[in-house]
Amino acid sequence: MTRRVTVEGVGGYLPARILTNKEMETIVDTTDEWIQERSGIEQRHIAAEGELTSDLGVEAAKNALEHAGIQPEEIDLIIVATTTPDLTFPSTAAIIQHKLGIKGGAAFDIQAVCTGFVYAISTAEKFLASGQFSKALVIGAETFSRILDWEDRSTCVLFGDGAGAMILSAEEANAPGSRGIMSSYLRCDGALTDLLYVDGGVSKTQTTGHVKMQGNKVFREAVAKISSAMEEAAKIADIDPKTIDWFVPHQANIRILKGVAKKLSLRPDQVVATIAKHGNTSAASIPLAFNVAVKDGRIKKGDLVMLEAMGGGLTWGAALLEY
Ligand code: COA
Repeated sequence: MTRRVTVEGVGGYLPARILTNKEMETIVDTTDEWIQERSGIEQRHIAAEGELTSDLGVEAAKNALEHAGIQPEEIDLIIVATTTPDLTFPSTAAIIQHKLGIKGGAAFDIQAVCTGFVYAISTAEKFLASGQFSKALVIGAETFSRILDWEDRSTCVLFGDGAGAMILSAEEANAPGSRGIMSSYLRCDGALTDLLYVDGGVSKTQTTGHVKMQGNKVFREAVAKISSAMEEAAKIADIDPKTIDWFVPHQANIRILKGVAKKLSLRPDQVVATIAKHGNTSAASIPLAFNVAVKDGRIKKGDLVMLEAMGGGLTWGAALLEY
């Protein structure tokens, strides 16, 4: 039996505390104007002390379960994309499974930094299409503020905390409804690790470390790699990129979003941009933006949506779906 994998619900959660650019001016040598002009960011959300990645993920998951109209026990696969897990182990997915009261099924984390959510839905799609599982909860959740160097103005102004979630479900390919996930394209070039990494870790330093980024070099890689991934995803799905309704990109920099959209001849009003209010929430940014555009009525059932991301690794990828 051929199975297809559709999106049943989406959810998002942002911590209550908002850190504005003006407040950022009191932390590092920066200005609201510089941050907005270079990145498009106006503010970001920061998790409260004791508020963990799993807590953000659980709230986003509850929001998505409610939107899908399903009970937690129907979920048999949980994949969490995160770079900022609660603990070294168990996985944040295992912690979220328990917090949601889900018993049975499988749960694991995926680490592809800002590309994590694209890797995660692609992985979930394969498991569901094969028939091994039937309903997946895919989450992107980050407390990125915990790995920032708050004295490094070139990185700390860019990131924020949050979580987004998507419920994916498998059904017979000839059932009525949307075509669901149509393709994905994932890539990594480990030779480019030095452009964006965290300088600590379990094995190397036994510390958590802080984000290091050569922003302008990452920027130079971004538009070409992301555009080609989107073109490949469209080719695999046999779709003309001109028929895409919505572009839901990873929210790293408004200039990258606009550059990629232009390269694919997408109009600015087709780009779902949440970077101004959310900042870069790494693996959470795509599902958070997707949730916003579904809930405000922009993305409707049957719309063709392109997702893309690039992050540490370097990793990058794209996925095409009919909502
Ligand atoms: N406030 C004020 N000045 C700042 C600053 C800040 N927060 N951060 C850096 N600067 C300064 C730099 O020191 C530099 O000064 P100099 O010219 O005197 O040396 C100047 O601004 C330009 O820095 P540069 O890094 O070249 O700026 P940029 O135009 O490339 O913008 C980024 C910086 C980080 C916004 C941009 O490079 C970017 O978004 N990169 C990609 C990020 C990304 O996609 N990450 C991957 C996904 S997670």
